[in-house]
Amino acid sequence: MIKPLKFLVSAGPTREHIDPVRFITNASSGKMGLMVAESALAAGHQVRIVTGPVNLDYPEEAEVIETTTAMEMHTEIMKNFHDCDVLVMTAAVCDYRPIKTSLNKIHKSDETFILRLERNPDILLSVKRLDKNQTIIGFAAETNDVIVSARRKLEKKKMDMIIANEVGGKNYGFAVEHIKAVLLFRDGENRELGCCRKKDLAEIIINEAVRIHG
Ligand code: PMT
Repeated sequence: MIKPLKFLVSAGPTREHIDPVRFITNASSGKMGLMVAESALAAGHQVRIVTGPVNLDYPEEAEVIETTTAMEMHTEIMKNFHDCDVLVMTAAVCDYRPIKTSLNKIHKSDETFILRLERNPDILLSVKRLDKNQTIIGFAAETNDVIVSARRKLEKKKMDMIIANEVGGKNYGFAVEHIKAVLLFRDGENRELGCCRKKDLAEIIINEAVRIHG
């Protein structure tokens, strides 16, 4: 009989508005976050999801907090982090947002249009573990130098585990059922999973989270 843990899961993309009808975003569908949430619930854990704009039905048993921008996602994760045992950041958070969002639709005029962006806060760099045992798991979607980049992120953001995943291929990565994943742990171990179903990866993540949390 496992001890139920409180999972906080981020999912989907964020959306950074240029004007009321245009925005910067990425191809995340939220599927990976949904699978993690479903696996955690199936194993008897509690789940709170902080989601960006997605077109998915989250399980009724999960508490869902909807956000649009990286700033909103940052606020909600910060608000809820103290109350979780495990944070799983599957979200693809936009690193930059327009310095200014126009209140009205921008009409075309010149041949070129310069859009100035500023950095969004890094959520994982902002969260501070409390005295209590909290486990932090992240993802890194990479096109090249997959392992090296992911390990750099794991160390910089002080995660317990990161899932490095190659994107750019047709049948795995963003918005599909499969992911090409390598688990990287804090102690230097790497575990290659190859191309697998996000559902299967989610079960592995939940088992590892429970093991790491102890
Ligand atoms: O949603 P799907 O369509 O199923 O696709 C799943 C996925 C490919 C989006 C997912 O598996 C994935 O890889 N998510 C992370 C995307 C990414 O490249 O993240 P990153 O390398 O920019 O960030 C590394 C980690 O820091 C991530 O856990 C991210 O959530 C977190 N981060 C990033 C930026 C930021 N401002 N704050 C953060 O906390």
